[in-house]
Amino acid sequence: MAKSFYLETFGCQMNVVDSERIVATLHSLGYQQVATSEESDLILLNTCSVRDKAERKVYGHLNRFKALKQENPRLIIGVGGCVAQQEGEKILKKLPFVDLVFGTHNVHRLAEMIGEVAARRGQQLATEFLDRETRLRLFPRRAAGSGIARFVTVMQGCDNFCTYCVVPLVRGREISRPCSEVIDEVRALARQGVKEITLIGQNVNSYNRQEGISPDFSGLLQQVHGVDGIERIRFVTSHPRDLSAPLIDSFASLDKLCPQLHLPVQSGSDRILTAMNRGYTVDEYRRQVERLRAVRPDIRLSSDVIVGFPGERQEDADASLALVREIGYADIYLFLYSSRPGTAAAALVDDNSQKIWGADVGQVLPVLVEGPSRRNGEESLFGRSPWNRIVNFRGDPHLIGTIVPVKIIRNNTNTQFGTIL
Ligand code: SAH
Ligand code: SF4
Ligand code: F3S
Repeated sequence: MAKSFYLETFGCQMNVVDSERIVATLHSLGYQQVATSEESDLILLNTCSVRDKAERKVYGHLNRFKALKQENPRLIIGVGGCVAQQEGEKILKKLPFVDLVFGTHNVHRLAEMIGEVAARRGQQLATEFLDRETRLRLFPRRAAGSGIARFVTVMQGCDNFCTYCVVPLVRGREISRPCSEVIDEVRALARQGVKEITLIGQNVNSYNRQEGISPDFSGLLQQVHGVDGIERIRFVTSHPRDLSAPLIDSFASLDKLCPQLHLPVQSGSDRILTAMNRGYTVDEYRRQVERLRAVRPDIRLSSDVIVGFPGERQEDADASLALVREIGYADIYLFLYSSRPGTAAAALVDDNSQKIWGADVGQVLPVLVEGPSRRNGEESLFGRSPWNRIVNFRGDPHLIGTIVPVKIIRNNTNTQFGTIL
């Protein structure tokens, strides 16, 4: 009987594209894809770490697979994508039933890693970043396949370092794929019957910026527009700072370009935009929207907005709401700020919040013990204070379910550490 695999993909189009490559690799190894994890020989999660919730979801899923592994010791469990990149070895240590962890630059090593696991050579880890030349050589090419609408990757990575965002840390530096390769691929897809192309990258507008060569993104669009058989073109995602005048004009001059643009503003407050390192003001953003609507009156805009960025006050949040109303987006994606390890904003602690939670240090708080803690090793426990903060401390598991006095010794952004009295 053929071997089978179960693959689940989280996050953005970058992961969708990587998952296609994963599927192609597994087909070449003789695996067939199945829709449920229960009966498969191999389980892979392609993960996203953009917000804490997305990351926790991964751990939740993995813990469910633990039981399957106990029933079938030959089952191989692997984690790829952005959580794999960021957490790396920690996943293998925390979850010993996981067999392999491959980061965002190591999708090409999957076959080899599965071979090692099958040969019982232990847990496998590959999270190193690759140099430019190797990345360009390995740039995701589309597996042959069918479909009417397809994604084409034009660049990878991100150099913008918005202070809240983990993407530059988990995807590495920006590189753009040579224009000739992009066009060859679009032509090949058109010959296969593809009618619609979405050019993708974390920040497509900065296409060829690092390379310092032409064409820039508007030039690339023009060339894609010239490919016979392609009837519709879209692109995602755009950074307002790099939305050039020629790119705006493309919406007038290229009739295959669809009248739709995702142009995340993130905040309606200049003070917060500066703290986020977005590189534009609300007024500059407004003017771009005006120009877009002038050249393409039927354009529909969508946006991302973050609420709760460190230091955000009521008036900043009100300004975001007012801007959203003013622009009149067709769609809006609203995110609650999530502190991501390693980002600049993770160090920017909200002053007021810091003052309140920091004052707990030195106090003895009644903590209702909920269970063993993953944070400090085996004999640690966690519980919550009356104010719902997680408190980690060492203690005996028989305390679970009781309220114990804990002296707080350290206060982190979302958790506290203490010693039981
Ligand atoms: N490169 C794209 C997509 C980035 S991730 C861009 O710049 O638009 C998609 C969205 O997730 C972002 O636009 C942002 O609104 C949100 N996001 C990213 N990091 C976040 C964080 N730490 N907390 C809350 N939302 C976040
Ligand atoms: Fe993250 Fe900003 Fe890059 Fe988008 S542009 S991926 S929000 S750092
Ligand atoms: Fe998530 Fe990684 Fe994309 S963090 S949004 S899957 S680049």
